[in-house]
Amino acid sequence: MAALLCKVAKAVGVRGCRRLSQLAELPETHHMLRQTCRDFAERELMPLAARLDKEHTYPAQQISELGALGVMAMEIPEELGGAGMDYLAYSVAVEEISRGCASTGVVVSVNNSLYLGPILKFGSEDQKQKWIPPFTDGQRVGCFALSEPGNGSDAGAASTTAHQDGDDWVLNGTKAWITNSWDASAVVVFATTDKKLKHKGISAFLVPMPHPGLSLGKKEDKLGIRASSTANIILEDCRIPSDNMLGPRGAGFKIAMQTLDSGRIGIAAQALGIAQASLDCAADYAHKRCAFGSPIGKLQAIQFKLADMALAIESARLLTWKAAILRDAAKPFTKEAAMAKLSASEAATFCAHQAIQVLGGMGYVSDMPAERHYRDARITEIYEGTSEIQRLVIAGQLLKDYGA
Ligand code: CAA
Repeated sequence: MAALLCKVAKAVGVRGCRRLSQLAELPETHHMLRQTCRDFAERELMPLAARLDKEHTYPAQQISELGALGVMAMEIPEELGGAGMDYLAYSVAVEEISRGCASTGVVVSVNNSLYLGPILKFGSEDQKQKWIPPFTDGQRVGCFALSEPGNGSDAGAASTTAHQDGDDWVLNGTKAWITNSWDASAVVVFATTDKKLKHKGISAFLVPMPHPGLSLGKKEDKLGIRASSTANIILEDCRIPSDNMLGPRGAGFKIAMQTLDSGRIGIAAQALGIAQASLDCAADYAHKRCAFGSPIGKLQAIQFKLADMALAIESARLLTWKAAILRDAAKPFTKEAAMAKLSASEAATFCAHQAIQVLGGMGYVSDMPAERHYRDARITEIYEGTSEIQRLVIAGQLLKDYGA
């Protein structure tokens, strides 16, 4: 038996063993980071979140403070102005920030995963030097423009075009539902250089904001995450130098897919934060609210709800950490990221729903945060791939494992 275990340990490697053990308990560095982000969220975000939501206000001051903490560029190496941490650290940070304010959580997530992430992975040295450092300290944020009014889930059907004119690329089309758009200083845009090639004709481009030929649609009036901005980005003869193509021509779809694999871990973490905030709120209320002669937390009907919420959160958190650990170990993680996002976003919707049930009438009014969590949770099942798309991705990957 011992020999078998030694063989397994050798195959996994000491680092592998240590990393897998993080599923049960975070390493000291990550634990400290978690505490720092939790303190920040409780001090700077929780007291403000309701007002930011009500007034649809971008949390500029808080994003700047998070930039100073290193949270706006967690994985970016220190030489480029980032915190030089891993993806497990990033997912822990996004969960804690989102527990305080889910809108702030998505601003952090989009800047890290969808803007900086593809530039770090696919950018040339010059592009990294130009497009990363100004976006690490929270003074500027970036965004990611893949969806269009005519295509969301079918990302390969992009109809925004890019054609070459001398040394420039000229972009035309409308990108839809772009998170951070009103507050962003740059965007990664996906456009087709050759429609006949379908998804193989899509390329990625870096566009500064503002920029001639680029305009913003109206700020969407959303159900939740209302302190983050969402709008169309309209490109009308938007001219950019040829150096602004990110990655090789025609590689845009794969860049988008790989970026979303990572982004989904961020959204899973955001959903976990919302789910945890819902449980915190319900458990606290169950202690304080009395009915039938005792706190309602003594009633089994309430206890069962709290237990189911805790179970959903803990399972989703383990999946999220697993996806992040696999990514950090440079192992395939597409399926695990989709599982993490699916389970965490469904946990968020479930927990927010249950929290309102525990609070009763108090859950339905904005004096308490439960109704905001309920509204904020909903988007996590939609953006960066709907729950249906996550199921497609999971099934596609597992059928591959079965040799289909
Ligand atoms: N990594 C690398 N390559 C991948 C990949 C991945 N995860 N997934 C697919 N590919 C490759 C395939 O290998 C294939 O390559 P070849 O052409 O060389 O064979 C190619 O991409 C096409 O693959 P599929 O045939 O599987 O592609 P598809 O058209 O059927 O689409 C999909 C697959 C999973 C449905 C994909 O379109 C998808 O993920 N859709 C959802 C899009 C999405 O998440 N949108 C969210 C918008 S962004 C957002 O919400 C941001 C925000 O503001 C918060």
